[in-house]
Amino acid sequence: MPIPTPNKGRLFDARVVANELVSGEIHRIVLEVGELARMLRAGQFVNVAVPGQPRQLTRIPLSFTQTDDDAGTIELVYALIGPGTAQLSRVEAGSTLSVLGPLGNGWRIPEDATRALLVAGGTGTVPIFAAALACAAAGIAADVVVGARTKDLLWGIDELKARVSGEIITSTDDGSAGEKGFASVPALELLAKRDYDLVLVCGPEPLMKAVSARAIEGGVPCEVSLERTMACGFGACSTCAVKTVRGMKGACMDGPVFDASEVVFP
Ligand SMILES: Cc1cc2nc3c(=O)[nH]c(=O)nc-3n(C[C@H](O)[C@H](O)[C@H](O)COP(=O)(O)OP(=O)(O)OC[C@H]3O[C@@H](n4cnc5c(N)ncnc54)[C@H](O)[C@@H]3O)c2cc1C
Ligand code: FES
Repeated sequence: MPIPTPNKGRLFDARVVANELVSGEIHRIVLEVGELARMLRAGQFVNVAVPGQPRQLTRIPLSFTQTDDDAGTIELVYALIGPGTAQLSRVEAGSTLSVLGPLGNGWRIPEDATRALLVAGGTGTVPIFAAALACAAAGIAADVVVGARTKDLLWGIDELKARVSGEIITSTDDGSAGEKGFASVPALELLAKRDYDLVLVCGPEPLMKAVSARAIEGGVPCEVSLERTMACGFGACSTCAVKTVRGMKGACMDGPVFDASEVVFP
């Protein structure tokens, strides 16, 4: 039985169904979370407590790629960054974790949109993957640009090609797969060549800044999902501040998805 918390999101017990290496430093974990699977919307995130982690109170914020409402499962894809994610990669199938969610505001995808441009860099691919599936479910064509540092960090491309109606373009900084260079290059080319009624971006801030500036210039609604260090995940600690035209906002409660025209990028 989920325990209600005073803030947004509730605590759920999550049984680990699978936890495996995808490639490079990228791992995938599938969690059985019951009704949380049905509650999550693309672009929202969960906070995962890792057993054996002394910082367990702070938890690890992670987006999800997809949910299976019938099985009550969610899939998270995460990069090994530090001690928390390293410990998470060692958790075995059959164990139980504590997950807080759903957290934050997801992508706002208008039902009457016909074509979207989705742009991901690095682990930004996770919420963009969820957005691509949401577009497919709503009958919206989506061109998806996925960029990574190198080939080993690109994942999910075949699944995107199979499930999304639109062009899927990959890029790597070192040219080991797809186009050589930053994801912003094919993204800006697509923006110049096609009409979109929606642009969604998640990745390094220079990527979000460049693509959103061009979208706004062209009058295309654009949202960005901002990653910040998050201690609590529910508005209590102010570690996740984002500078906006309306003053400082919290990425955990007001975001992580923001209207790009409101964000003041450095
Ligand atoms: C809303 C949200 C969704 C996220 N979704 C995903 C996801 O789907 N997949 C994924 O791989 N990662 C995701 N992240 C990032 C993930 O939470 C961090 O990589 C993780 O917390 C690192 O924990 P750690 O204990 O392994 O490393 P730590 O010891 O906490 O960190 C190692 C280093 O990385 C830096 N760092 C940690 N977290 C962040 C951050 N959020 N932004 C910038 N620098 C950071 C630290 O300052 C430190 O220098 C998300 C973050 C947020 C805020
Ligand atoms: S993470 Fe604590 S206020 Fe946002």
